[in-house]
Amino acid sequence: MTKRINQNVVDLPTAKIKEAVNKLQTPFFIYDENKIRKNCQTFSQTFADKFPGFAPLFAVKANTNPDLLKIIFSEGFGADASSEAEAWIAHKLGQWGMYTGNYTKEDEFKFVKKCNLMINLDDISMLPTLKKIGMPEFISFRINPGISKGGMKSLFFAGPDAKYGVPAEGVVDAYRKAKRMGVKRFGMHTMTGSNVLDEKYFPAVAGKLLDLAAELKNKLKIDLEYINIGGGFGVPYKPNEKSLDLNKVVNGLRKVFNQKCKEHNIKEPTLMAEPGRWIMADTGWLIGKVNVIKDSYKKFAGIDCGMNDLPRPAIYDAYHHITVLGKSLKARQEKINIVGRLCENNDQFAKERLLPKIKIGDHIVIHNAGAHAYAMGHNYNNRPRSAEYLIKTKGGFKKIRRAETIEDLFKTTNIS
Ligand SMILES: Cc1ncc(COP(=O)(O)O)c(C=O)c1O
Repeated sequence: MTKRINQNVVDLPTAKIKEAVNKLQTPFFIYDENKIRKNCQTFSQTFADKFPGFAPLFAVKANTNPDLLKIIFSEGFGADASSEAEAWIAHKLGQWGMYTGNYTKEDEFKFVKKCNLMINLDDISMLPTLKKIGMPEFISFRINPGISKGGMKSLFFAGPDAKYGVPAEGVVDAYRKAKRMGVKRFGMHTMTGSNVLDEKYFPAVAGKLLDLAAELKNKLKIDLEYINIGGGFGVPYKPNEKSLDLNKVVNGLRKVFNQKCKEHNIKEPTLMAEPGRWIMADTGWLIGKVNVIKDSYKKFAGIDCGMNDLPRPAIYDAYHHITVLGKSLKARQEKINIVGRLCENNDQFAKERLLPKIKIGDHIVIHNAGAHAYAMGHNYNNRPRSAEYLIKTKGGFKKIRRAETIEDLFKTTNIS
């Protein structure tokens, strides 16, 4: 029996967040343990129903907080790491997983090998470096199958303009060379775009990989042990935006796997995926307090966090749903820009957004702040980054990261 899966950007644990703003100093990120567990279980179960050996990884880059990673790993996810630090934290937490770097240095490969992660190579040109440090027995290549899709142009990760992956026409050469260099076991990986809401796209990508798997079987006698279709599972950012129907995605994948494995007479590889956004986006919120209200050519509400905390609106012009804590969206509304305190004019979370009338001291809630949010943050303008809290399933809040201090910002420099 398939369950309808709906993600809704408007959902908010309002009572808990009200309790949090009474107890905690703003600004802060707050995450809901219950929601994280539910998303993990729904994702894994939906896939496992149709792909019994399904092996999910979590894209650590989406949210790297160790307390949150422990929750996700305890739900059966491995780690998808893309840097030394991500490999390090996965290893430190005793986790299995895969490393997908790009333009990787020799030292980084050495480090990742010590962390016992599977290596997923971005290109044939990296084989000699890997050989130099000791060729692993089992590797995969990230493939650029020539097609891409994403929630916006900057989230397209494949096709001719993308810096990632082995082009489809180079795949046989890459695996041939790896086999000659001593690799015995192989998988295949791709990651073609992020925040995709089109269910048909995932089976289309998998179909291309299965065609390539058949070529490897025919030309090199390689049986791929897994196909990792990456992340990219989209979530609604606007209240009326549709949710990705994960059942449709998985049914489509099942169909293409049945069809292609039969047509090409290949053994079915294990299916893997490495979502970030789908697991974490709607489980976290960034809470800021209104400091200043300014009437200029437009009306601005200045809050005590900024693009340094959540850079997506500034760098992608991305839309984030915003509410005013305790005020109904149906209340008397006015058009207002919600802005941060950085000296950058793109430090604006919303422009001319219709919101309930805002007063100094109101709490602004920025939704979908659980993925690619804190993790993308920075310290421009020497703004320390905010604290993170967890709403525990068993009740209460846990501080899972303290706010940075001014001293933190300068601790790697010589002051005296
Ligand atoms: C290699 C790789 N895997 C997985 C992800 C996670 O993507 P998403 O958060 O869209 O699921 C990313 C995101 O950039 C990625 O680069």
